[in-house]
Amino acid sequence: MRAMLAILLISLLPAWTFAAGHDTALERVDVDVSDKAAMQDGARTFVSYCMGCHSAKFQRYERVADDLGIPHAVMMKELVFTGARIGDHMDIGMQPADAKAWFGTPPPDLTLVAQVRGTDWLYAYLRSFYEDPTRPWGVNNTVFPNTGMPNVLEGLQGRQRLDCTQAGPVEEGNTPRTTPAVSGLSPHTCDQLAVVPNTGSLTEAQFNEKLRNLVSFLVYSADPAALQRQRIGIYVLMYLAVLLILAYLLKREYWKDVN
Ligand code: HEC
Repeated sequence: MRAMLAILLISLLPAWTFAAGHDTALERVDVDVSDKAAMQDGARTFVSYCMGCHSAKFQRYERVADDLGIPHAVMMKELVFTGARIGDHMDIGMQPADAKAWFGTPPPDLTLVAQVRGTDWLYAYLRSFYEDPTRPWGVNNTVFPNTGMPNVLEGLQGRQRLDCTQAGPVEEGNTPRTTPAVSGLSPHTCDQLAVVPNTGSLTEAQFNEKLRNLVSFLVYSADPAALQRQRIGIYVLMYLAVLLILAYLLKREYWKDVN
């Protein structure tokens, strides 16, 4: 019985440590890198909306096609816009010097960004652009203030504004409270983002789904071997469990005569 309990606890351990590694300040987003349909959609969004500026140069088109179950012909027709061949890296033509002049900061390569920034951060960043006329592209971002990136998904999400009217309780005399009186509360009471109705082609739910698929693709891209590892890991755990049962039976057999 105790052995069974031990197996249970040990098998739960990875889930527990994984959960502990997340930033609690950001909304959690669950991605499933074994959901190929979701990742195909994410890959499509990536090549259509991101590769104008960002490369994924440690990744090859062919590997993506094979891992996500996309036939090579379809991959070439629908997802390769740069004139690259199927075996090429997902590189772009933009020169870093030009990019720096245009954006202030060159758009970084995104192959590994999910590992650098984390899933929740990426999801939050991409949906937190808001209109700000003082910025060069007319938008700012609550997660990455003064980012040099334009809001490339605005057509899907719609125009978003910072909304202070929902900033919380109004004090006596009807003066809106923008900074909290109680310490320990978030000082960002003005950080309510609100989409201007009917300015995007997707509903909020559809947009969130699209974004989750895109982030899933970036998670896969940062660690393409994860799928394989997960599968192998399950076999290893099953093997260890069987070994444990055998060892336990053997132990009982040995100690039978002693007790
Ligand atoms: C028009 C060019 C352009 C497009 C298109 C674009 N980006 Fe960016 N992106 C930038 C620039 C420029 C930066 C650098 C911002 C900075 O550091 O101030 C950036 C930064 C980022 C960062 C932050 C990286 C880091 O760790 O600092 C992420 C993540 C990102 N982009 C994701 C995306 C995704 C996903 C898409 C597609 C949906 C996309 N970008 C499309 C220009 C672009």
